[in-house]
Amino acid sequence: MAKPNPSPSDLVLIFVVAVIFGASSPSPAAARSSSSPSSRWAPPRFVGKFNKLQQPQIRYETRYFEQRLDHFSFSELPRFRQRYLISTEHWVGPTRLGPIFVYCGNEGDIAWFAANTGFVWEIAPQFGAMVVFPEHRYYGESVPYGNGEEAYKNATTLSYLTAEQALADFSVLITNLKKNLSAEGCPVVLFGGSYGGMLASWMRLKYPHIAIGALASSAPILQFEDIVPVETFYDLVSNGFKRESSSCFNTIKQSWDVLLSEGQKNDGLLQLTKSFHLCRTLRSIDDLTDWLESAYSYLAMVNYPYPSEFIMPLPGHPIREVCSKIDRSPVEASILERIFEGISVFYNYTGKVDCFQLDDDPHGMDGWNWQACTEMIMPMSSGRDSSMFPTYDFNFSSYQEQCWRDFGVKPRPRWITTEFGGHDIKATLQNFGSNIIFSNGLLDPWSGGGVLKNISKSIVALVTDEGAHHLDLRASTNEDPEWLVEQRATEIELIKSWLNDYYQENKAVFEM
Ligand SMILES: *[C@@H]1O[C@H](CO)[C@@H](O)[C@H](O)[C@H]1NC(C)=O
Ligand SMILES: *[C@@H]1O[C@H](CO)[C@@H](O)[C@H](O)[C@H]1NC(C)=O
Ligand SMILES: *[C@@H]1O[C@H](CO)[C@@H](O)[C@H](O)[C@H]1NC(C)=O
Ligand SMILES: *[C@@H]1O[C@H](CO)[C@@H](O)[C@H](O)[C@H]1NC(C)=O
Ligand SMILES: *[C@@H]1O[C@H](CO)[C@@H](O)[C@H](O)[C@H]1NC(C)=O
Repeated sequence: MAKPNPSPSDLVLIFVVAVIFGASSPSPAAARSSSSPSSRWAPPRFVGKFNKLQQPQIRYETRYFEQRLDHFSFSELPRFRQRYLISTEHWVGPTRLGPIFVYCGNEGDIAWFAANTGFVWEIAPQFGAMVVFPEHRYYGESVPYGNGEEAYKNATTLSYLTAEQALADFSVLITNLKKNLSAEGCPVVLFGGSYGGMLASWMRLKYPHIAIGALASSAPILQFEDIVPVETFYDLVSNGFKRESSSCFNTIKQSWDVLLSEGQKNDGLLQLTKSFHLCRTLRSIDDLTDWLESAYSYLAMVNYPYPSEFIMPLPGHPIREVCSKIDRSPVEASILERIFEGISVFYNYTGKVDCFQLDDDPHGMDGWNWQACTEMIMPMSSGRDSSMFPTYDFNFSSYQEQCWRDFGVKPRPRWITTEFGGHDIKATLQNFGSNIIFSNGLLDPWSGGGVLKNISKSIVALVTDEGAHHLDLRASTNEDPEWLVEQRATEIELIKSWLNDYYQENKAVFEM
């Protein structure tokens, strides 16, 4: 692990929500305790600080490739080693133009993404495809400057951590790999989930000569500027609870004020420490609210129809379980007792946790926080009525101030849409792009920033009512509902059609 503060959280992430600035924010409690919207910005993060690396059933070789630090200048900077995982086990080879499936690594250890993207491994044999999982720079083992300490030192060393550089890494790697294997004619299909899905779709648009198509699962490419309403994310999380029961939604919504007033009592923090079974005495009420907020948002993301261990070991339909604990506590149970019972489904489903650690949130110096402070500005507010979270109005000034304090950097909220588009996406892409699948499950709060409508014949949206965060990319199970089986079958058909088109066009070229 080559990063500061090595912790399990370094392995993680796909889009989950945690509080980026919670740990370092100076006085969020003060801001919250007033009835005005909090000035604290708690942007959801992609997933998963709780993951353990699952043992993949999959076989690959780990290789390294030397990359330039800056693809967009000609200065002689130190190079770095990019890790990539590769399997040629089922590849039919260059003479038969065997396809190459590339998963666009996102903000975490690539081995973890490989282990949680069973779909790609499962379909590779029927396509005779090679599988490649390149790691995203500054994550996992693909860290420049020799070690994470140096790479994450300051705004200068972090400045090469961008989506553009990551896409260039993927493109250079694929081109070089194909050359080495004399596989220049082999078609490349991109895959990605969450931020990786954003990268996959952007790469298809920026590098159409390198990849013939992309499956972008749960990719919120519209979660920028004012393209979607700022309340979308937290409203969707809240709806996930409300659809199970409105009393569950209401109990959670009421709990924040109760927490606050408990916390202000003499010995209040100590009492809360006891009633929430915390390992260490609570220093501020925010640590507890952040911990609860994270859990609710993660729960919405992984509200899968069957038991899973993606983030935490959880039952199927986990929000239903949480709400049933909250609602079915004995009548005399207080709001906080109900909340504790509910949250234990998330943090203690196995029943093996002795006490809860709240301080496993990395201190603002992990890569996603830097990305959120530079390019990935996803404005989010929590509305007064529709959200069960504390009211919060996105405030760019305070966001900017926090980024300056944390990294000495100024966010550029309009850059992503300038670089990759997003406004009027249908008008732009229906004439310009092709071969992209945007898949989303509407239970996933990130679906609010996703492409949910068909754009053209070959840029299609596959939307499932009951799906959650890139469920389609996970390995199939015996418990998969019919709609999920169908969704994956449609994806396979679409990928086949891209490949068929490619082969036909190529034959035409060869015959000329
Ligand atoms: C960051 O650290 C590097 C290496 O120590 C140094 O050369 C550079 O001036 C620093 N940049 C900033 C903005 O502090
Ligand atoms: C291609 O081969 C060269 C020479 O052996 C090697 O340095 C490079 O890393 C290889 N490329 C990839 C993507 O592995
Ligand atoms: C976790 O669950 C077990 C079994 O219900 C319980 O004994 C234990 O106290 C719980 N841990 C915490 C931190 O609440
Ligand atoms: C936004 O944040 C800035 C800087 O912290 C603060 O001065 C301003 O009052 C805030 N605006 C609103 C509407 O809360
Ligand atoms: C988009 O078109 C595909 C067929 O290519 C269809 O299966 C899908 O349901 C359509 N999506 C939406 C959101 O209408």
